[in-house]
Amino acid sequence: GAPVQADISKLEPGQRMTVEWRGRPIWIINRTPEMIERTEALGADSLADPNSEVPQQPAYIQGGLRSIKPEIGVLIGICTHLGCSPLFRPEPNAEGVGVENWPGGFFCPCHGSRFDLAGRVFNNVPAPTNLEVPPYRFENDDIIVVG
Ligand code: FES
Repeated sequence: GAPVQADISKLEPGQRMTVEWRGRPIWIINRTPEMIERTEALGADSLADPNSEVPQQPAYIQGGLRSIKPEIGVLIGICTHLGCSPLFRPEPNAEGVGVENWPGGFFCPCHGSRFDLAGRVFNNVPAPTNLEVPPYRFENDDIIVVG
């Protein structure tokens, strides 16, 4: 499939937008400093693969936030368990995610898998790996090219 362009100029801090690439939803999240802080505070006590050792991202994607720019996350929005589309639950302690002290992230309603705002999978859920990060680059500050 051809690369797809996403215009993020209207993506407000804290919001998520979706574009389609190769028939799959691509989430782009504008993470606030506070969301980044909550995500960076997570480690192996809560996440299955905090350092993304399983290659679910291009080699140039490094670090716990799994992104080129800290504030902009780009993820394939398909649960790595059986392919449902997880729900965006960015607020701390959002209802319905089934855990106390929820730090914000994504919740898959199919079988209860949870992912942080960098797409990293939590411990003790059915999904075996982090969400995938697609290949992408910044054409400029406002345009991301996925693919
Ligand atoms: Fe997401 Fe099973 S498909 S938890």
